Formats: sequence, structure tokens, C-alpha cells
Amino acid sequence: MTEISAVTGLRNTLQNYPTGVTIVTSISKGNPVGGTMNSFASLSLNPELVSVNIMSGSRTAKAIFEAEKFNVNIMAADQKDRAVLFSTGDQVMRFIDGGYKPGINGLPVLDGVVGVIECDLFRTLEIADHAIIVGNVTNSYVLREAPPLIYYRKDFHSATLQ
Ligand SMILES: Cc1cc2nc3c(=O)[nH]c(=O)nc-3n(C[C@H](O)[C@H](O)[C@H](O)COP(=O)(O)O)c2cc1C
Repeated sequence: MTEISAVTGLRNTLQNYPTGVTIVTSISKGNPVGGTMNSFASLSLNPELVSVNIMSGSRTAKAIFEAEKFNVNIMAADQKDRAVLFSTGDQVMRFIDGGYKPGINGLPVLDGVVGVIECDLFRTLEIADHAIIVGNVTNSYVLREAPPLIYYRKDFHSATLQ
């Protein structure tokens, strides 16, 4: 076996672990903010808690710290373009098409998503340059019966039922 650095080994190994794809949205000074995140996880059902690991300096994390609430939008397989859009460039461009509506908590719910988990900020744990952001679920709903978007080996895929 060839020796490789720990970070390269981790990156190569993680590529073999498929995840769903979310866009985490919040609000800053009245403007919608959001970013593509695949570090979303269910944490506890009782109490209802979820987590997402976000770069602390990102605009998405800063908006969540400010608003103290966020929405997790679960992306559908036909929303790859939106997932790419929300991982680069400026925030205004991400929302310029107006493809979103306010959720029950007033934060952006993107059109066409499979479902949404609305959260109040429960706890934040800063580790290295990331923050583990824990949300207390206030509302959660399925919006569309569609296959979800999957991220695997640096590319987007569709989850299909056997
Ligand atoms: C598939 C995919 C998953 C991502 N997951 C995360 C994540 O879990 N945490 C994170 O901090 N950034 C993640 N990113 C990068 C962010 O989407 C990107 O850095 C962010 O939108 C830019 O930060 P901003 O909030 O300052 O605009 C991911 C990008 C892609 C394409």
C-alpha cells in the first residue's frame, strides 16, 4: 500500500461515503442567505435535534449566529444546478430567481425541495475552522414525493428505489 498523507487519505475515503444534499438557509439584515451543505445529520428524536457542520467564517454560518434560526432544505435529484449555485459565488445571485417562499418561521424554503426542517439555534460548538451547529426542530414537513439528490465521489447522483 502506498503511503499518503492523512488529509489525502481522509478525503479519498470520505468520497466513498454517499450523503444527501441540503441547502441550509437563514436571513441576515432582511436578506436571504444560504449554502449547500452535506454535513447535515439527525442528532436526536426526543428532543428533536439535528446538526450541520459549517465553516465558521462563511456567510451562512454568520447569518445563523445572527438570526438564531435556520432551515434545512432537502434537495431533490433534479436540483443539482441549485446545489452547485449555492456552493459558489455571491449570496444575491443564489436568490435572484426568487425561487423560494417564507416557511412557517419566515426563513427561505426553496421551491421544488423534497422537504424542510425548520430549526431554532440550540447550541454551537466551534471546532477548528468549523462550527457544529445544533438545531432544535420547530417544524418539519415533506413537500414533494421525488428522489433526493445524492453526493458521491465528487459528483451529484439520484437516489432511486429498487
Ligand atoms: C456537495 C457540497 C456539500 C457541501 N457541504 C458543506 C458543509 O457541510 N459545510 C460547509 O461549511 N461547506 C459545505 N460546502 C461548501 C459550501 O456550500 C460553500 O462553501 C458555501 O456555500 C460558501 O459559503 P458562504 O456561506 O460564505 O456563501 C459544500 C459544497 C458542496 C458542493
